[in-house]
Amino acid sequence: MTRCPAADARPHGRSPARRLPARRPARRCAPGARTLVALALPALALGAAGCSLKSASNVNEIAGKRQFVAKCGSCHILARAGTKGIVGPNLDEAFRQGLSEGEARSTVRGIVEGQILNPNPEGAMPKNLVAGATRGDVAAYVSSVVARPGQDKGLLATAVQAPGAGKPAVEKAGKLQIPASPTGQLAYSTAKASAKPGPVTVEMPNMSGVTHNIAFEAGEHGSSGPGPVLGSSKIISKGTATVSLTLKPGSYTFFCEVPGHRQAGMYGALSVK
Ligand code: HEC
Repeated sequence: MTRCPAADARPHGRSPARRLPARRPARRCAPGARTLVALALPALALGAAGCSLKSASNVNEIAGKRQFVAKCGSCHILARAGTKGIVGPNLDEAFRQGLSEGEARSTVRGIVEGQILNPNPEGAMPKNLVAGATRGDVAAYVSSVVARPGQDKGLLATAVQAPGAGKPAVEKAGKLQIPASPTGQLAYSTAKASAKPGPVTVEMPNMSGVTHNIAFEAGEHGSSGPGPVLGSSKIISKGTATVSLTLKPGSYTFFCEVPGHRQAGMYGALSVK
C-alpha cells in the first residue's frame, strides 16, 4: 500500500501525489508514521463524518494552547500561539502546503498526535511531552490554527499572557530578580528593570523547564547586540541562576544566551540611575 491511512480517511479526494508536500513524504507514509496515524483513526473517522474538527470531539483548545506554549513553543514557531522557537521546524510552514492543497485539519491533527507520541528518535524532540487527554488538546489546537492567517479570538486570545508583560523588576538592597517566564515562552516575566548604580546580584528563577540564562550588555540593543557581555549566569532549566555585576549609571540590555532565545524576544531593558 502506498497511501497513508490518514489520506484514506480524508473526506476530500485528491490525488496522493498532490496531497503530499514534497518536504515530508517520508514522515507521512513511513511505516512508523502509518501505525501512529492509525492510533488517531477514531478521531479521524469522526472528523470525516462531520468534516470538521469541532464536531469530532469536545477537546479543550484553550488548555491545548497553554500546553503548546509551555511544552512546544520553545522549539517551534506557531504564529497564532505567538511562539518563536527555532530548534524544530516552523509548524505553519510545515503544514501550509498540504492544507492549501486540501488536506483536512483532522488529518493534521492525527499527524501532530503521532509526532508527540513518536518523534524522530534522531531528532531533538523529546518523546511524550504531553500525555493522555492533553495530547489531544494540543493536537486539536495546533491543527485548528496552524498556517491560518489572523489571530486567535475570544477566550483563546487571552489563554496565554503576552510575553514580558509583567510588572517591571526593581532592585532592592542590591538584589534584582528577573524571572524567566514560567509559561515556557521565550521571555522573561518582565521586559523592564531598574537599579541603582553599584554592585547588584541578579537572580533569575526559572520554573519553565526550558533552559535559559540571563546576561547583560551595555546599551539598549533589543533582539541583537554587539556585546561585549558584562556578565552572565549559568544556563539552567530549573532553580535560580545568579550573576553579580557592578553597574554604572546608564542603560543596559538583559537577554538569554541560549541560541535563538534573544532573537525570539527573550530580552529586556535595564535602567541604572
Ligand atoms: C526540544 C525541542 C522540541 C520540542 C520541545 C518540541 N519539538 Fe516538535 N520537533 C522538534 C524537532 C527537532 C523536529 C524535527 C525532527 C522530528 O521530526 O522529530 C520536530 C518536529 C515536529 C513536528 C513535525 C513537523 C513536520 O515538518 O512534519 C511536529 C508536528 C511537532 N514537532 C510538534 C510538536 C509539539 C506539538 C510539541 C509539544 C508537545 C513539540 N513539537 C515539542 C523539536 C521539538
